[in-house]
Amino acid sequence: MMEIFLAIVVFVGIHSLRQRKKQGLPNWPFVGMLPSLIFGLRKDMYEWISDVLCRMNGTFTFRGPWFTNLNCVVTSDPRNLEYLLKTKFSNFPKGDYFRSTVRDLLGDGIFSADDEIWQKQRKTASIEFHSAKFRNMTTDSLLELVHSRLLPVLEDSIKQSVPIDLQDVLLRLTFDNVCMIAFGVDPGCLHPGLPKNPFAKAFESATEATILRFVTPTLVWKTMRCLGLGTEKMLKHSLKKVDEFANEVIRTRKKELSLASSEDSKQRSDLLTVFMGLRDEQGRPFSDKFLRDICVNFILAGRDTSSVALSWFFWLLNRNPEVEERILAEISKILNEREDAIKEEPLIFKPQEIKKMEYLQAALSETLRLYPSVPVDHKEVVEDDVFPDGTVLKKGIKVVYAIYAMGRMEGIWGKDCREYRPERWLRDGRYKSESAYRFSAFNGGPRLCLGKDFAYYQMKFAAASILYRYHVKVVEGHPVMPKMALTMYLKYGLQVNLSRRHQSHLNNKY
Ligand code: HEM
Repeated sequence: MMEIFLAIVVFVGIHSLRQRKKQGLPNWPFVGMLPSLIFGLRKDMYEWISDVLCRMNGTFTFRGPWFTNLNCVVTSDPRNLEYLLKTKFSNFPKGDYFRSTVRDLLGDGIFSADDEIWQKQRKTASIEFHSAKFRNMTTDSLLELVHSRLLPVLEDSIKQSVPIDLQDVLLRLTFDNVCMIAFGVDPGCLHPGLPKNPFAKAFESATEATILRFVTPTLVWKTMRCLGLGTEKMLKHSLKKVDEFANEVIRTRKKELSLASSEDSKQRSDLLTVFMGLRDEQGRPFSDKFLRDICVNFILAGRDTSSVALSWFFWLLNRNPEVEERILAEISKILNEREDAIKEEPLIFKPQEIKKMEYLQAALSETLRLYPSVPVDHKEVVEDDVFPDGTVLKKGIKVVYAIYAMGRMEGIWGKDCREYRPERWLRDGRYKSESAYRFSAFNGGPRLCLGKDFAYYQMKFAAASILYRYHVKVVEGHPVMPKMALTMYLKYGLQVNLSRRHQSHLNNKY
């Protein structure tokens, strides 16, 4: 008996391990590929996924334990991405599983909605994002935040000769900025002394607790929610604070708008005011709950993405000083074209100057290629389908697209894909954009990031304003690795020392 048992164990073991070649990972009875996933989570999960995808020519099917819904197709093949995000868009929505998991935080907002509810918000917001008034409001609020908050905070760290967590400071900058865009109010996270802001804190806790639901069996978190236990208790508490803040802003704005003359109300171009002025099919104004959902979703979409990208950018510049030199040369050249030269104090970059910074744009795109702010994303399959690479997709299965891994595929970017080389984005010295299905940091197709143009402007303006004034040096020995979250934060922040840059250094560049 013992010998038969041992023979079966050895056979199952060898068979499971041989699946590695065919399926990418060993596939064990009962637990499927879960042991490999746990191993991957202990190290760097994004590198682990990239490694499997490189071995499997860009696509593999992850098989979870029996009787769980963890099965999913993982892909980094641009042909599949185009099919998923554009060609068969309607067959791959966000889906009910995603929506029910994030409903308490995001409600029916743009980030979680599908079909008509999504379409309506997308159309209205898209018109607004492209209007001159909205663009002026976003650039003005950014200018104000950078010059009256960000730069003084950085200057303070020099005066006190202490290192500063640049990621934390940048996260505060973009949080204040996106609240001004969505709600038209400034939460003041980047005030001197970097105060703790109850709304920002509640928003962060609510997001973290919502994300935990994705790795907790549905029945378990729903039971915890009913009983008010653990992270679900924390989520309820945080959501109460988020809602109180949102409802207060909505109430005050309604009052302001009812008192103001229509000319005054036309001056405001934040998303809350714009959506308040709209009516549904029956001619009724939107409910306060729907207005709250719209604003909360925009804050989530636009709050951390640009700041984490900027943090990776400054880290990469430290490792690639020749890139920093080229950015400074570009800034000097643009400033030398000014009629008033650099005399203006304080120096403020003009929108048309930011537009001309094409090498800086290339360096930021190259950062996002290697460290995309959203490293993986997913969709659900509505009807049975087949990917262009031949992978069969069963109704209901999830498809994960691995954006981080795409930046490390030789088939897409060539043998030097792991190198930081902004030059790959230039043709004859001009910036040339890439197909959204090869460079998917901003998603693609009908759900392409709505804030893409603004995000580039925001990152370029902040980066140029900092680099023009300061040399940013990462603290020796500071550990740098990604945090396992939906957004690619640096796990330990980015501790840097700043020193003032002498103007002669800049003027000599060109
Ligand atoms: C470097 C900065 C940014 C990156 C890398 C980025 C990336 C993305 C990605 C990957 C998505 C798709 C998410 C999904 O559907 O699951 C997305 C959607 C979106 N982004 Fe961005 N984003 C950035 C900045 C911003 C900013 C600053 C805003 C707003 C001020 C914004 C607004 C949105 C909105 C509203 C959507 C939802 C679009 C839709 O579903 O139709 N993003 N973004």
